[in-house]
Amino acid sequence: MSDNAFGRSLASLDAALIVVTTVAEGERAGCVVGFHTRSSIVPQHFSLWLSKANHTYRTALRATHFAAHFLTADDLALAEAFGTRSGDDTDKFAGIDVDIDDHGLPLLRACPNRTVLERITLLDDGGDHVCLTTRVLAAQADGPFVPLRMSDALHLDPGHGSEERAIQP
Ligand SMILES: Cc1cc2nc3c(=O)[nH]c(=O)nc-3n(C[C@H](O)[C@H](O)[C@H](O)COP(=O)(O)O)c2cc1C
Repeated sequence: MSDNAFGRSLASLDAALIVVTTVAEGERAGCVVGFHTRSSIVPQHFSLWLSKANHTYRTALRATHFAAHFLTADDLALAEAFGTRSGDDTDKFAGIDVDIDDHGLPLLRACPNRTVLERITLLDDGGDHVCLTTRVLAAQADGPFVPLRMSDALHLDPGHGSEERAIQP
């Protein structure tokens, strides 16, 4: 078994991309996430993985609520806005239309397919990402759509590489 074979199999899955937003003590954050999945049917749970290098991760440590926005094939510009810049040095939300929900969460108006999530737990298993498990509180859907996929975004240079985490193992 080689690392490359693992990578090739995952590339064939061609994960759909989402933008995860959150807020803690008035500080907004959000980034593109390719690591995510439904993780319980009843009750409805959703899990996602955040890189320890990201501003969104550091905000998530203090946050209770999250929004997952399911990107469509037309949302490459949003993926670029949230996946190639960091909240460490940019206000990613400047110039982007958002609605603020009851939890203070920024909801991207351009993404009608989205889900509001409440944190259950955050698991650090020693990897470069942490797993955030959540329960689905509310969802909005605009009918079937063609997702924006990892293969559509290969040219994007992430705002933070996963190796940039503050504390190395
Ligand atoms: C195609 C693609 C997939 C990504 N998947 C993830 C992911 O699953 N989890 C994550 O934390 N970051 C992921 N990133 C990286 C972040 O979106 C990126 O580093 C972002 O600029 C971090 O912003 P922040 O520092 O404001 O949180 C991905 C980026 C791209 C372009």
